[in-house]
Amino acid sequence: MTEKSFVEEIEKCIASGEVSLPVFSPTALKVQQELVKAEPDLKVLEKLITGDQSLSSQILRIANSAFYRGLVEVLTVKAAIIRLGMQEVGRIALLAASKNQFHSKDPVMNELIKQLWQHSAGCAIATHWLAKRCKFGEILSQAFFAGLLHDVGKLFVLTVIERLKNNLNMMMTHALLLEALDTLHTQQGYALMQQWSMPEQYCRIARDHHAPNFDHKDQLLVMVRLADMMCHKLGIGLTKDPELNLATTIEASILELSEISLAELEVMLEDTSSLLN
Ligand SMILES: [Fe+2]
Ligand SMILES: [Fe+2]
Repeated sequence: MTEKSFVEEIEKCIASGEVSLPVFSPTALKVQQELVKAEPDLKVLEKLITGDQSLSSQILRIANSAFYRGLVEVLTVKAAIIRLGMQEVGRIALLAASKNQFHSKDPVMNELIKQLWQHSAGCAIATHWLAKRCKFGEILSQAFFAGLLHDVGKLFVLTVIERLKNNLNMMMTHALLLEALDTLHTQQGYALMQQWSMPEQYCRIARDHHAPNFDHKDQLLVMVRLADMMCHKLGIGLTKDPELNLATTIEASILELSEISLAELEVMLEDTSSLLN
């Protein structure tokens, strides 16, 4: 089977409407909506999180992980909010919710899903770091979410491939699978996020984060593109390309990032590896 016919099979399956992705965690979305407010309410945040048992336990686990660990173990959501701050707990909630979203019974698929999640989480952390470094105060609270969801189309296409793979009379090589994900994920991610009624700026990022022509004034998009390339450079995700030179990219020049800033981003991302496992 050629790549073209494989991609066509996937598109046909999507068009038939047989496969759907579970919606993004409603609790995490409400958390995100609270955090973009000018004055987020600690009580509302605590109530949202404690109302979701699995989210609460994961937040406590991450808050006590090597990456965040303080001197004393945090035992309640409120203690985590007080120790780490509302915005940080909000970001942990988004990470935990996105990790929960996809599973497969097939160990090979599960490994791919895990790598995709690591990539999304790495991009979320890197985009947020960039927004802080570039002092984009007004979009800081959107940066993490934008990075986290930029490749959601890949998860969707992977779900479709899993559904198809028993029916297809073919050898599905790893290369063929990666090519199909690359070809389809921006367009399918955009459609999916629109279906989820996500704010338009996140939908556009899902669509344009690899496009050769893109809006240079869309700071969120430019940051996600750079974060994405940094994750590829470091091998956070499905591919690794250590030769990538980010200093010469148009994104780095739009954001006016020095080589030193890029090196700092690289070190920071490598330090988060304990969080991404
Ligand atoms: Fe992508
Ligand atoms: Fe990506």
